[in-house]
Amino acid sequence: MVNNRRILLIIGGGIAAYKCLELIRRLRERGNRVRVVMTKAAQQFVTPLSVSALTNERVFTDLFDLDDEREIGHIRLSREADVVVVAPATADLMAKMALGLANDLASAVLLASDKAPVIAPAMNPRMWQNPATQRNVTQLKADGATFVGPETGEMAEAGEAGPGRLAEVPELIAAIERTTTAPASALTPGPLAGRHVVITSGPTHEPIDPVRYIANRSSGKQGHAIAEAAVKAGARVTLISGPVNIADPDGATCVHVETAAQMLAAVEAALPADIAIFCAAVADWRVANRGGQKIKKQKGAEVPRLELVPNPDILATIASLSKGRPGLVIGFAAETENILGHAQAKLRNKGCDWIVANDVSADSGIAGGVMGGDRNSVHLIKADGHQSWPEMGKDEVARALVEQMANSLGEDRRSSKRKPSATGKAGAK
Ligand code: CTP
Repeated sequence: MVNNRRILLIIGGGIAAYKCLELIRRLRERGNRVRVVMTKAAQQFVTPLSVSALTNERVFTDLFDLDDEREIGHIRLSREADVVVVAPATADLMAKMALGLANDLASAVLLASDKAPVIAPAMNPRMWQNPATQRNVTQLKADGATFVGPETGEMAEAGEAGPGRLAEVPELIAAIERTTTAPASALTPGPLAGRHVVITSGPTHEPIDPVRYIANRSSGKQGHAIAEAAVKAGARVTLISGPVNIADPDGATCVHVETAAQMLAAVEAALPADIAIFCAAVADWRVANRGGQKIKKQKGAEVPRLELVPNPDILATIASLSKGRPGLVIGFAAETENILGHAQAKLRNKGCDWIVANDVSADSGIAGGVMGGDRNSVHLIKADGHQSWPEMGKDEVARALVEQMANSLGEDRRSSKRKPSATGKAGAK
C-alpha cells in the first residue's frame, strides 16, 4: 500500500486520459493524496472539474496563473510530492521532458522536480515506434524514469493496433507503489547481490539455406524481463538471446546467438552460475541437409524435402551436469492443455528444480495471446507442489520469480543444504 503518499499526477493530452479518473479514484481509495496538473490538450479529453471532484483538490493547469503561483508555485508543486506520475505521457510531453523544455506548467513542474518520474506512455503505435520517440525513451530511462507500458493492442482509431495503449490501472498502481516504496533499494545491496544468473531468451533460428530458416513466435519479452529484474535485484546477469526485436536490458551482459547449438555453447561458456533460467523457445529440430547455397526453384523438379535432426536440449544438458551444475535450474513449459500434468512431467524428465508453466493456447483468455504479448499467467511448479499466479504483466512475473529465487537461495544459505556456487551440484529439489 502507498497509503498517505503525496502523488502528483501529470495528465497529458490523449484519449486514454479518461483512465486517469479511475486511477485517481483507486489511488485515493488507498489513502493517498493526489494532486493533478493537466496539460492544455488533456483538458480536451477530461475536464478539470471532474478531476477536481475526484481529487478533492484544486487542479493546476496554467504556468502563468497568478493565483496558482501565489498559492503554491510550480517548484513547490513538484517538491511536495513523493512520486510524480505522467499518464498518459504523449510523444510530445516525453520529447519536452527528454529535452528539458519548460514552456507550460506540466513541463516546468517536471523540470523542477527532484524525483525521477513514473511515465505511462499512450499514443499511436507509429508514434511510439518512431525513432525520435524511442530516442527520447532511451534518454528518459537513462535519466532514471520508470516506464510502465505501453501495452500492445487495439487502438481507439479504427484498424490501428500495436504498442501504444496506456497501461491498465492496476499496473499503474503497482508501478507507483514500487517507486514509492523502494527508492532506497539502489542504495542497499539487492537480494541477488554477488550471484551470477544465466538466462536464455527468445527463439532460435535454424537455417535451411543461407536465406531461409525455421523459427517460432517467441518474442523474448519474458526472458528479457527476468534479466532486467535480476539486474535490479543486484545479480550479475548473462542473457543469451536468440534473434528478437527488443532492446538488450540495461546492466546485463548480452550474448546474441542464432541457433540452438550456438545457444548451448554460449550457456556452457557463461558457467559457472548460481541460477540458470531457460526461457528461450529453442527449436526442437534443425535441418540436417542444410544448403550451402540458396535452394533454387526448378521447373518440373521435385519440391525439396527437409530432413530434420534433433537439437540438443540445453535445459536438460545443464540440469544433468555432474560438475558445475548451477544451484538452481529453472525451465519453462509452454502448454496448450493439461498444463500442470505436462509441466510436472517436464520437471522430472529434464531434471530441473522448477518449471514455470504457461498456457499458450489461443483460448488462454489473455488478450492478444501469451507469445509476443505483454501478459502472462503462470504456474510455478516445484518438486513439492505448485503455485498458480494470477494473470500479470511479464515484468511482474519476472519480479515475482526473482523474489522466489532470492528466497530460495537465502533458505539454502541458512540451511546450507545446497551450495549455489561454481561447484554447485545436481539434484537440488
Ligand atoms: N529447452 C531447451 N533446449 C531445447 C528445448 C527446450 O533448453 N532444445 C528448454 C526451454 O528453454 C524451456 C523448456 O526446455 O525451458 C521447454 O521444454 P520443451 O520440452 O521444449 O517444451 P515445449 O517447447 O513446451 O515442448 P513440448 O511440449 O513439445 O515437449
